[in-house]
Amino acid sequence: MTAGSLNLSGGEDAARPGARRAPPGAEPPRVDPRAEAAIEADLPNRPGRNPDGVDAALCGHRIRLPEIMSETPAERSRRRATWFARHPFLWSRYLLIHEFGHREVAFGDDPRFRDPSTLYRVAREPLARALGIAPRQLDPIAVELRPLTRALTAELAREPKAGALMQAPLLYLMARVVRPRIIVETGVSSGYSARFLLEALERNGEGHLHSIGLPRLAMDPSQAGRFDGGIAVTDRPIGWLVPERLRSRWTIHVGRSDDLLEPLLQGLPEPLGMFLHDSLHQYATMAFEYRTAWAHLAAGGLLASHDIHTSRAWPEFLRQHAPLPPDGELDHDLGVVRRPAVGAPS
Ligand SMILES: C[S@@+](CC[C@H](N)C(=O)[O-])C[C@H]1O[C@@H](n2cnc3c(N)ncnc32)[C@H](O)[C@@H]1O
Repeated sequence: MTAGSLNLSGGEDAARPGARRAPPGAEPPRVDPRAEAAIEADLPNRPGRNPDGVDAALCGHRIRLPEIMSETPAERSRRRATWFARHPFLWSRYLLIHEFGHREVAFGDDPRFRDPSTLYRVAREPLARALGIAPRQLDPIAVELRPLTRALTAELAREPKAGALMQAPLLYLMARVVRPRIIVETGVSSGYSARFLLEALERNGEGHLHSIGLPRLAMDPSQAGRFDGGIAVTDRPIGWLVPERLRSRWTIHVGRSDDLLEPLLQGLPEPLGMFLHDSLHQYATMAFEYRTAWAHLAAGGLLASHDIHTSRAWPEFLRQHAPLPPDGELDHDLGVVRRPAVGAPS
């Protein structure tokens, strides 16, 4: 059963009135509870239900692909040492909970969510290279991140991080530099990436974010409270992290990207300024999303992906679109490429 056939796009969230807005001209939003249940029952992401065979079944499980490890072992050690040196106590605690305890981690337990400065230091040069600007041009924008992360840290300390994209502050920088009028992301969960993207659009004073996601935070309800699935189960509605003040720029489309992405992109009034993949990290879904988004991406637009190490889709995509930079990797597992401006080879 597909979400597209159930017409869930733009569905209203009963728990938070006004949380989801229908795109202009779309049918009034409606959600059929039986349809939501059907989508959940049909989640492709359970262990043992991996149609690609070769890919990781769940967020958080990785396959090491040497061809896309742009970091050398020395660089990787340096990155880890940089992170560890900044918050040794927090990191030791995190490793105990996550690596040894195999428990789901709260936002407050993961040092990377508390302090974006190390993330920025690690990603500053590759991000500037991908954006085609000088690293120093990013510095004044990076300063804007401090109050945003401070507020989020206070708000989220004990909340399960539910697969949140920890490099979301880098998405903020991207959106502030490129100033996209339309952003599309796949994979909503609690809405951590959406919140940073929307904060950037708000600061830009223009732009709209469309997020495609499944109606639950969890990949698999049996994984409740455990890390093994990489995702916590909570009873919150998807996107709960996005406050009301940012929602006028936001449309959530409930369903699978396989069903909803193409029609959404076809219906956009102008080419896409930025795309983020953070839904199902399997080859078929990743390759499909990259291919589809690229076909609608504006010149100078950005295509970003989380968990680029979980399948071959990212290196294949980069190869197909040579001469895109082969090292489009920021802080280990976030990839980004910028579509060349008109006239440049693509
Ligand atoms: C890694 S989480 C997204 C995290 C989110 N970007 C954030 O920063 O909070 C992945 C989400 O994608 C959803 N998902 C899985 N398969 C999907 C699909 N085919 N289409 C859209 N969303 C999907 C899952 O339900 C899960 O909530």
